[in-house]
Amino acid sequence: MVLKNKNIVLGICGGIAAYKSCDIIRRLVGLEASVECILTRDGSKFVTPLTLQTLSRNKVRTDMFEIQNSWEIDHVSLAKKADVVVVVPATADTIARLAIGVADDLLACTILASRASVLLCPAMNPNMFHHKATRNNIEILKSYNYQFVMPEKGELACGDFGDGRLADVSVIIAAIMEIFK
Ligand SMILES: Cc1cc2nc3c(=O)[nH]c(=O)nc-3n(C[C@H](O)[C@H](O)[C@H](O)COP(=O)(O)O)c2cc1C
Repeated sequence: MVLKNKNIVLGICGGIAAYKSCDIIRRLVGLEASVECILTRDGSKFVTPLTLQTLSRNKVRTDMFEIQNSWEIDHVSLAKKADVVVVVPATADTIARLAIGVADDLLACTILASRASVLLCPAMNPNMFHHKATRNNIEILKSYNYQFVMPEKGELACGDFGDGRLADVSVIIAAIMEIFK
C-alpha cells in the first residue's frame, strides 16, 4: 500500500477531461491516500466542488481569498503538507502560468510554495499541445524537475484526432505510485 496515508494535493483545471479527475480521486481514496483538491476557477465550470468534496472526503479549495476557520494560509499549509502535487487535467493555460511562475490562483501559489514533487497530466486539443508555446513551457517545467504523464493519441472531445487525450487513469495512478517507490 505505497499510497497509504500519503497527502496528495490534486489540482483540477478547466479542461473537458476534468471529469476523469473524479475517477482518479476514487482510486486514490481506495488506496488509502488522503486527497485534497484545488479546483481552479475555470475547472469549476467542468466539475463541481460538491462532487470532488464527496469523493475525496475532504474540503475542496477553490478560492485563495476565502476566509478560513483557522489562521493558516491555505496555499502555504497545503504546500507544506503535500507529499506530491498532481494536476489532472493540466491545461495549456495552467502549464503556461506555471512555466513563468505566475502566482495568481491557489493552485499556482501552492505549487510555487511547495517542495513536494509535482506531476502534471496535460490534456488539450492536439494543435494546442503541439504549439511551440506549449512545448516550450513543458520543457521549462521539466527543467524545474516537474514530472509529466504525457497525453495519448486518440479521438478528443472536440472531434479532432491526435495527441492530447488525457493519459489513461491507470497510467496516472501508476505514475503517482512510482514517485513514492
Ligand atoms: C468546452 C471547453 C473545453 C476546454 N478544454 C480544454 C482542454 O481540454 N485543455 C485545455 O488546455 N484548455 C481547454 N479549454 C480552455 C480552458 O478552459 C481555458 O484556457 C481556461 O482559462 C483554463 O483555466 P485554468 O488553467 O486556470 O483551469 C476548454 C475550454 C472550453 C470552453
